[in-house]
Amino acid sequence: PTIHVITPTYTRAVQKAELTRLTNTFLHVSNLHWIVVEDSPRRTPLVSRLLRSSGLNHTHLNVETPRVHRIRKEARGSRVPRGTAQRNLGLRWLRENLGRTPRHQGVVYFADDDNTYSLELFEEMRSTKKVSVWPVAFVGGLRYESPKINNLGKVYGWSTVFDPRRPFAIDMAGFAVNLHLILSKPQAYFKLNGVKGGYQESSLLGDLVTLNELEPKAENCTKVLVWHTRTERPVLVNEGKKGFTDFNVEI
Ligand code: UGA
Ligand code: MN
Repeated sequence: PTIHVITPTYTRAVQKAELTRLTNTFLHVSNLHWIVVEDSPRRTPLVSRLLRSSGLNHTHLNVETPRVHRIRKEARGSRVPRGTAQRNLGLRWLRENLGRTPRHQGVVYFADDDNTYSLELFEEMRSTKKVSVWPVAFVGGLRYESPKINNLGKVYGWSTVFDPRRPFAIDMAGFAVNLHLILSKPQAYFKLNGVKGGYQESSLLGDLVTLNELEPKAENCTKVLVWHTRTERPVLVNEGKKGFTDFNVEI
């Protein structure tokens, strides 16, 4: 099966570094299709060039996060979902472009541009029948969060401190979905409005599966294969002084 990786991304100093790291990882994964969705009014030359020279099978899209959500972020400092409009466009692209070729086996994974992905993770998710799940490191104030697995190998809850009563208390990096399931539930999207912090993932998964149907991977969720790393913002305080630096140089 092909792994369709949907990555939201936005322009900032570290963007090319993040996408370079992902490229270097994905080049080691067979049958990978990278759907990169820029949070911008148009596709940027930086990302276009990077994708073209990557050698990866890719689709390059863009959609700007609706303004109202940005204003809310600044006004109330509340956590607004990041990357949501972009992931939804990726889902729509899959339905519009692969919806008529149901014989194609595939898996869909949402990979943010700043996380760290082991190669093993992709082999684990490749056999996803409906929705597969696994632990994610560095989320929810813990070394790792994980689904709870009973002795029948079924998910029965969530080993998290932050709101374990969420229907699916799992980070975006902690699950993959079978392509047929995405195509057969064309109304399933991440909800942009009225979704509390931490409920993004549940807002999609609730439309796709029940807890009982989840498939634990990574040795029954005992291994960490993905890390929710976050990149430090570089200090650029000397930019603009003494003629530094040359803005014709892409970083
Ligand atoms: C956490 C979760 O791991 C994300 O999956 C979730 O989208 C996010 O919270 C959220 O607040 O909704 P976090 O590290 O805080 O992740 O978020 P970022 O990595 O900053 O953003 C998630 C993705 O959205 C990244 O791929 C990023 O490039 C993209 N993004 C971020 C945009 O497309 N536009 C933005 O304005 C900000
Ligand atoms: Mn992140």
